[in-house]
Amino acid sequence: MLATNQRLSRPISFSSDNVTGVQPQILQALQDCNSGMAAPYGHDDYTAACEARLSALFECDVSLFLVPTGTAANALSLSVLCPPWGAVLCHPDSHINNDECGAPEFYTHGAKIIGIGGADSKIDPQQLALRAGVKKQDVHSVQPAVVSVTQATETGSVYTLDELQQISGVCREHGLRLHMDGARFANALVALDCTPAEMTWKLGVDALSFGATKNGVLAAEAILLFDAGLAQEMGYRRKRAGHLFSKMRFMSAQMLAYLEEDLWLNNARHSNAMAARLGAELGAIEGIELCGEVAANILFCKMPQALSAALIEQGFQFYSDRWAPGVVRLVTSFMTREEEVTALVEACRCWFDNQAILGSS
Ligand SMILES: Cc1ncc(COP(=O)(O)O)c(C=O)c1O
Repeated sequence: MLATNQRLSRPISFSSDNVTGVQPQILQALQDCNSGMAAPYGHDDYTAACEARLSALFECDVSLFLVPTGTAANALSLSVLCPPWGAVLCHPDSHINNDECGAPEFYTHGAKIIGIGGADSKIDPQQLALRAGVKKQDVHSVQPAVVSVTQATETGSVYTLDELQQISGVCREHGLRLHMDGARFANALVALDCTPAEMTWKLGVDALSFGATKNGVLAAEAILLFDAGLAQEMGYRRKRAGHLFSKMRFMSAQMLAYLEEDLWLNNARHSNAMAARLGAELGAIEGIELCGEVAANILFCKMPQALSAALIEQGFQFYSDRWAPGVVRLVTSFMTREEEVTALVEACRCWFDNQAILGSS
C-alpha cells in the first residue's frame, strides 16, 4: 500500500487516456512487420488483411482508411459527409466543436458546426429534430447535412442503442448523414455489451472514426465507411490532406494486433472497470460527490479545492477546476492499476480524516 499523505515515489496519472504507453503486443507487431519490403500507400498485405478483419468484425463490407490521429479521422469523415454550405450538428461538448482547432471546418471547406444541447453531453433527439428542420432550402442559410455523435462521449457517458436509434430516426426524416466519433468506441461497446454492427451501421451510421490510440496502440485510427459510395472521394481527400501514409503496413499491423484475441475489448473492459471502482469508492466518501453515473472510463466528481490541490501536490495527476470550480476529471486506461485506484481513494480518505482531526483539536 502506498503512503496516503506523502509524496508518491512516482506520479500516478488520471489525467487522460492519451498519457498511456503502447502495449507490448502492438510493439511486437511493429517489429514483426519490419522485415523485407511491402507495397506502399496501403497496397500491402497487412492493410488488405486489416480491411477484411474489420469487415468481418462489423459484419459488412467496410471501406478502411487509416490515419494517425482522431482529429484527422473526424475531420476527413465529415468532409465526405458535408458540403461546404452544410452544417454539422453535434453536442456543444463534442471534440469536433472544442478540441480540433477548426479541422472539421477546414477539411469541409467551411461547413458550420452547430451545437445541439442535451444532458450528459448527449444530443437530445427532440432538440435535434427542431434544429434539423430550420430554414430548409433557404439559400441564405447553411443546410444541416450531418449529425455527429461521440460514443463514448467526451464526459464519459454512453448513448444507449435506443438513444442512437432516435437520433438516427431524425437523420432519416431530414435526409442527414450520421457520423460517429469513436475515439473511445471500445469503451462504449463493452459498456453496452452489443456488437460493433449493432452500435453503428445497423442504426444508420455512415462513417465511423474507430479509435485505437487511447486504448493501447501507438498511432492508428481507422475511418470506416459503411457506404462504399463515399470511398473514392475519401481516397483523394486523405491524400490531399497529407494523411496517406507511404509505409501503411505499420499502421495496419498495429490495428490488426489491436483486434487480435480481443485485446481492444479486454483493454476497454479493464479501463471501464477501473473507472467504475474509482467512482464507487470516491462516491462513498463523505465530501466527494460524483457528477453523473460512470459508464465508461471518464468520471467527474466534486471535491474541495484544497483536497484536489493536496492530491496534486502528492503526485497525482488529473485536471481540476477546468470545467467548474471544485470539479475534477479522472480518466482511467488499460494501464491503470488497481493499486493506483486504491492509492487515490486512500489519499482522499486520509485528507478528510486529517481535516476532522484538525477540526476537533
Ligand atoms: C472524443 C474524442 N475524439 C477524438 C479525439 C482524437 O484526438 P487526437 O486528434 O488528439 O487523436 C479525442 C482525443 O482526445 C477525443 O477525446
